[in-house]
Amino acid sequence: MLIVESTLIKAGTRLRISPRKAPKDRASRKDLSVNIAGLPAGERPSPKASGLEGVVVAETRLSHVDGERGQLFIAGSRVEDLALSAPGQFETVVEGLWALGAGEPMTCVPERLAQARASAFARIESLNHALSLADAMDALLASTAQGCAGSDSLGVLGALPVYVAAGARLRAGLSPIAPEATRSMAQDFMSMLGLPENPARARALDAYWLTVSDHGLNASTFAARVVASTGSDVMPCVVAGLAALKGPLHGGAPGPVLDMLDATANSEPRAWLENELSAGRRIMGMGHRIYRVRDPRAFVFERALARLEAEEQANSAIAQRVAHARRVELAASALLNERHPERALCANVEFYTALLLEAVEIPRALFTATFAVGRCAGWLAHIEEQRHTGRLIRPAARYVGPLPD
Ligand code: COA
Repeated sequence: MLIVESTLIKAGTRLRISPRKAPKDRASRKDLSVNIAGLPAGERPSPKASGLEGVVVAETRLSHVDGERGQLFIAGSRVEDLALSAPGQFETVVEGLWALGAGEPMTCVPERLAQARASAFARIESLNHALSLADAMDALLASTAQGCAGSDSLGVLGALPVYVAAGARLRAGLSPIAPEATRSMAQDFMSMLGLPENPARARALDAYWLTVSDHGLNASTFAARVVASTGSDVMPCVVAGLAALKGPLHGGAPGPVLDMLDATANSEPRAWLENELSAGRRIMGMGHRIYRVRDPRAFVFERALARLEAEEQANSAIAQRVAHARRVELAASALLNERHPERALCANVEFYTALLLEAVEIPRALFTATFAVGRCAGWLAHIEEQRHTGRLIRPAARYVGPLPD
């Protein structure tokens, strides 16, 4: 039986696939018609969805994104409660997500993560070349691939902040700083970067990591689940997540958001934004595949920034930056609404991520890698959840290429 993987076909119709370039001779055209009505349900083509928009490919207990109402639930909690009202440390969300994804509790997470940081630091010397790569995400990808082979979930997660911080220090010509087991992951990350101890800023970084720990089937989580579905082990799944996160349409946006805020600091933002759109570039930190309203994580970060500003004796630098960001956001929303009245394009998580990470003095070049540390909590739980399904993810494609004469 000829089974053709295809799209946009209604059962009972005849499927015809033609090469993109019409053959010179009509008689030479291969006819791949097949009657799909007789195919078993599992073999029938389903409608094509550009970018897989709206296609459900997994069931998850980990997080839920309501794009119409602008709500996000992570491990059964509203993101606002998780990060602001009853904030725990990042380690608590690792535990919560894991329990849901794996169906069993994970014990002693803070201690095991601290142990994983120490083990990762012991491997630093052998990873010198990988860690010294010029781009922070390239360095994280290479050092994770090389340094985490055979590690378990917490082994990989604990290694990430160590590699991000050590890579940054090595690229700056400085020696890596060893982790310290008594600190939380957020405190230790800041310390390994060489930042002074600052509980308010560590709390803000915790709020950031809690907030970005999981977000439905985003591109990097999907990539990690695809690899997990092949039966691969943890490290390659996380490397797949990192690779997807690096892209500017996903986790690579916050650095460019700060560039935009810098570029518009002394002028009216609208002209600058118009210029970007005329040049065919996207406004970073704006728009989202799922949200049709402002991203709830943008509100969380605004509130975390306000709290940090208060804790730092009315830090006016933070207040001024947020006020300017708000002006740019409003100008960008207005402009995008004029250009795309059919599609609400509002601020996404990356817009205020940029401000929050800047306020805790994470270097701009490390924004995406810092995001990766938080999102890895979700990846690990999704990898485990996917494994429990025991089912390979293998979608179909419609063939539109040439055929032999
Ligand atoms: N700036 C300018 N135009 C944008 C835009 C942006 N930030 N986001 C979307 N658009 C445009 C698209 O180009 C598209 O226009 P077209 O139909 O003329 O081609 C239209 O709006 C609809 O886009 P949509 O289908 O909503 O986008 P998507 O779901 O494919 O993409 C993003 C979602 C996030 C990739 C997209 O909004 C984007 O590139 N944003 C900037 C990068 C960013 O902030 N990424 C972080 C995401 S959390």
